[in-house]
Amino acid sequence: MKYFEKMKEKFELLKEKKDVIILSVESSCDETSIAVVKNGREILSNIIASQIEIHRRFGGVVPEVASRNHILAISNIFDQAIEKADIKKEDIDAVAVTYGAGLIGALLVGVNFAKALAYSLDVPLIAVSHVHGHIAGNYVSHLDLKPPFICLMVSGGHCAILRVEDYNKFKLIGSTVDDAVGECFDKVARVLSLPYPGGPEIDKLAKEGRKTHNFVVSNSLKNTFNFSFSGIKTSVVNFVHNAQQRGEQINKADIAFSFQDDVTNELVEKTIRACKEQGLDKIVVAGGVGANSMLREKFSMVCEKNGFKFYSPVLKLCTDNAAMIGSAGYYMMKDGLGLADLSLTAKAIVSL
Ligand code: KG4
Ligand code: ZN
Repeated sequence: MKYFEKMKEKFELLKEKKDVIILSVESSCDETSIAVVKNGREILSNIIASQIEIHRRFGGVVPEVASRNHILAISNIFDQAIEKADIKKEDIDAVAVTYGAGLIGALLVGVNFAKALAYSLDVPLIAVSHVHGHIAGNYVSHLDLKPPFICLMVSGGHCAILRVEDYNKFKLIGSTVDDAVGECFDKVARVLSLPYPGGPEIDKLAKEGRKTHNFVVSNSLKNTFNFSFSGIKTSVVNFVHNAQQRGEQINKADIAFSFQDDVTNELVEKTIRACKEQGLDKIVVAGGVGANSMLREKFSMVCEKNGFKFYSPVLKLCTDNAAMIGSAGYYMMKDGLGLADLSLTAKAIVSL
């Protein structure tokens, strides 16, 4: 029997299997991660090797350096993931991997590792989109969470409001028309001379600041569910540069607080309005910026006031990790989706 025909049969049989163990691989940016996830919800292991320290001295991720470091790390991460999960390789029922969106060279390391592993274990290979994975980060954080819900997807590369109708059924309600919100955090952090990645640094610094400025969020999209962040980013950059040119001292903590307050207000207001308009009662945050403490606090408060339930992943599962990919892969398998053959390759951009 041809290889792919055999995999199709195995994939189909998994749907009915009582316990399904998926080994998942994530290498789309600067984290090399391998996880073992049982039945889409139970994390048996989730090993994450971050390259942040390596890229920090360049002020951002250097794609070539990221790829090389994934290569150096991945076999060791795999061994650790198997050991921590306390399973044998033969227990793995399928391999799931992020094939996009992300840095091509970085993704290729994970994709090729996953292909070789799936082939050698003779198990199906499942191709998962990174954004889909971020949403599933919530399923491994909250065992009670089930669709439908409204999801605010906020990461370094994405900013969108989605209606998650079912595990594999999404409707785009709105998205950024320019920058992703994480990109905006990172850019503002850079102008404040904070280290990479900027989001967590702004979050930390803002705790010592107060509201002293109003940075303008574009008004033109006011009644829509779309976002624009390039204006507010430029407004902070100009404010800092002008102050520097005049030789004035700036209070970085106040700027961090004010910027973060304006951005999070915009995210919360539009997500709440989308939830009301869609007639849903659950709001879920996904992606790296979902780790932002002010965003989480505001959502908790406003959701309580509106009678909505609010979910966000535990902090470790907000930023890139393989457990979220294992969870997404499991629910794709349940719906017969994502089976890949050995021609699978990395893609810089993928639709959800
Ligand atoms: O999801 P993620 O790890 O990678 C992508 O898929 O892009 O998100 C990374 C982004 C970065 O822009 C980082 O600065 C931001 O998430 N981030 C934060 C926080 N933690 C990470 N932004 C604001 N506050 C945080 N606490
Ligand atoms: Zn991500």
